[in-house]
Amino acid sequence: MNDHTLDSIFYDESAASAEPLSQRIYADRSSPHHLPKLEVKNVAKFYPVRGGQQLIAVEDINLKIFPREFVCLVGASGCGKSTLLNIIAGLLPPSTGEVLVDGKSVTGRPGSDRGVVFQGYTLYPWLTVAQNVAFGLQFQQMTKIEQREQVRYFLNVVGLEKFANSYPKQLSGGMKQRVAIARALANEPTVLLMDEPFGALDAQTKEQMQEFLLELWGKTHVTVLMITHDVEEAIYLSQRIYVLSSHPGCIKREIPICLPEHRTLDIKLTPEFIEIKRQVLQTIRHDH
Ligand SMILES: Nc1ncnc2c1ncn2[C@@H]1O[C@H](COP(=O)(O)OP(=O)(O)OP(=O)(O)O)[C@@H](O)[C@H]1O
Ligand SMILES: [Mg+2]
Repeated sequence: MNDHTLDSIFYDESAASAEPLSQRIYADRSSPHHLPKLEVKNVAKFYPVRGGQQLIAVEDINLKIFPREFVCLVGASGCGKSTLLNIIAGLLPPSTGEVLVDGKSVTGRPGSDRGVVFQGYTLYPWLTVAQNVAFGLQFQQMTKIEQREQVRYFLNVVGLEKFANSYPKQLSGGMKQRVAIARALANEPTVLLMDEPFGALDAQTKEQMQEFLLELWGKTHVTVLMITHDVEEAIYLSQRIYVLSSHPGCIKREIPICLPEHRTLDIKLTPEFIEIKRQVLQTIRHDH
């Protein structure tokens, strides 16, 4: 995007407020519910190590994520979670297997079909919040007015419209991650991929972000695959959890989260929640 285009991406307070969320049918392009939005088939990744040997980071990974699902992948440090997410994102080629989005094999870097949010703060420090959110829109067939409207809409979704003209250094960690999420969502990805997006946040901010993410998912119904090693976070957010074993990383267990779809933080204290947490932790511990 050239400077001229970025200059035009600002938040104009006098403009009409963003379209009501309910009218924005984000997921209306989704495939029929019985077809997976994302499918990982027989994926393995071998890294070369010294002595001509190979480290099997992940192996025999098969998973399906259906439209509007929120699925978490949990596992111990080093079990291959980021490797798998980077393969799904198209940032790393698999050694075997393939990744399908809406039934089509994906190749290459993340595009409009896969939005990615990483753990570290990956905003461009020299761009304003609005310019960061607008960044990916340069690759789309959009007029400047449409880009501005899209930026305004998603800044509104993440509650940061007042910070549109601020720079990342002027924001807290949680706010930066909200911008990163807005940036990923602005491209209206088919699947939102997140690698420990709240890993660097303190406990209280993390819980606020979890609430925010659930609310966002409730509004947009975007299909989400999120990686976390925080078991409580995974249960609170998702409908299904895949537990990965270590060395090599394989899918050890798939656990459905049978909790009401509308959740508040208090649910973490209920016997049902604690029982699921016990099952997940036991699965992870037995692996060690
Ligand atoms: N570029 C690389 N070259 C060689 N080995 C690698 C490379 N990247 C990762 N690995 C190895 O692959 C394994 C999986 O790493 P990965 O980063 O995917 O784990 P992770 O589950 O995301 O860990 P964490 O929870 O600590 O982020 C580890 O043993 C790691 O040492
Ligand atoms: Mg990782």
